[in-house]
Amino acid sequence: MKGVYIFDTTLRDGEQTPGVNLNKIEKLEIAKQLEKLGVDVIEVGFPVTSSGDFEAVKLIAQSIKGPVITALARAVKSDIDTAWEAIKYSEKPRIHTFIATSEIHMKYKLNMTREEVLNKAAEMVAYAKGLCRDIEFSPEDATRTDVEFLYSIIETVIDAGATVINIPDTVGYSTPKEFGGLIAGIKKNVKNIDRAIISVHCHNDLGLAVANSLMAIENGAAQIECAVNGLGERAGNAALEEVVMGLKTRRDCFGATNHIISENIYNTSLLVKRLTGVDVQHNKAIVGANAFAHESGIHQHGVLNFSGTYEIMTPESIGLNRNSIVLGKHSGNHAFRQRIKDLGFENISEEAENKAFKKFKELTDRKKEIYDEDIKALINDELLISEEGYNLQYFHISSDSKPSAVSRVKLTLEDKSFEGEANGDGPVDALFNAIEKALGMDLCLKDYSLKSITHGRDAMGEVLVRIENQDKIYTGRAVSTDVIEASAKAYVNAINKILEKI
Ligand code: KIV
Ligand code: ZN
Repeated sequence: MKGVYIFDTTLRDGEQTPGVNLNKIEKLEIAKQLEKLGVDVIEVGFPVTSSGDFEAVKLIAQSIKGPVITALARAVKSDIDTAWEAIKYSEKPRIHTFIATSEIHMKYKLNMTREEVLNKAAEMVAYAKGLCRDIEFSPEDATRTDVEFLYSIIETVIDAGATVINIPDTVGYSTPKEFGGLIAGIKKNVKNIDRAIISVHCHNDLGLAVANSLMAIENGAAQIECAVNGLGERAGNAALEEVVMGLKTRRDCFGATNHIISENIYNTSLLVKRLTGVDVQHNKAIVGANAFAHESGIHQHGVLNFSGTYEIMTPESIGLNRNSIVLGKHSGNHAFRQRIKDLGFENISEEAENKAFKKFKELTDRKKEIYDEDIKALINDELLISEEGYNLQYFHISSDSKPSAVSRVKLTLEDKSFEGEANGDGPVDALFNAIEKALGMDLCLKDYSLKSITHGRDAMGEVLVRIENQDKIYTGRAVSTDVIEASAKAYVNAINKILEKI
């Protein structure tokens, strides 16, 4: 059986999803989870785009040991130098450089001729090779590129030192038959192609990203670039979980193996949802809330008799527990610790575990049944809410059936305290106004959403806010059984992210 490398771009193309803005701690948390998932390559960012991204890439290159760590760079010396400066700490660094090759991009974006693009690509790959052994090259918009020109640029960059040739369907335009044919054509017509790995990077504008990627595997590609939950520019990238479960469930078709531990898929999806603030639709394949739910009586009956009647893969194979009621009021420290290990949180500090246990105990006073989802939310909260920045000390709201409400809040930052009082159109608006007044800020709330993590009246509510500051969007989130408290904490969490970037 042939092997397929799984290249994850959640932290680079995935972070280009509108409204997603991850700080370095969040990026590191996702990178650790990707390592646990077993991905071969992690594309951690585009370092030249901001100092925050540079620092995040450097931190991950220093901390993550198993997978290849790569960063993106245009075919420009300063981009390549910056990418190298950030990833050189990795045990397995790779520079990923790209230049557009389609007529439309060369004319309207680069204002360069074919010859200029070809020379630039060769020159920059050779330059990158002088810094790093492992070089990936992408001819951007490959699927709308003249195929003879594509063959010649691929041959040239392999001669210049490229080790991986990535074929991006940048605008999600290709179809499975066409894309499979393109990969087969490259294998057949590029004479030095056996000196490089063929990779593919498909966007989902026509909903074909996964199908195109799998077709590429059938035709000779050996690396798939994908993102958790299908995140990425516009309609996103091929969803990692769909690619992996497609390869696993239909191994009979594809005959390809990979290193992914599929039982870690669900927790990875959950973490990425939480940190990016981007939910997946309920009917999303593999990780959607309904992916393993059987509604009709006939289906339920069949599954109870034998799960294979309506399930082509088991929920357990992605790490989803069928019975998720776990702990309650009488559960002790030991059971709690065991449970969080079973849920896949392994390398948590003693301190974070103790704090999470304390929160768990408080939760059992407010909520009868504690589900796996509640525990994951508590742990993620404990791991991710940074100790730095403002802390909400108290809030008070007075509201009735009339639209106007009034709120008072107190926040602290180290040894300073800040108090504010304000009116608003309902309790949440009043609360946010009071926080802004206390901190002397004037922010623009772009999005607010509230959803329950589990079911029942006592379920924990998760609040997600997006606020705009100097043309950038910052996401904050928090959970609590009190949705007003969750709202206040989510707002403060987003404000703290602004502070980190200043
Ligand atoms: O979609 C694309 O073309 C890309 C490249 C930079 C690989 O993301
Ligand atoms: Zn892309």
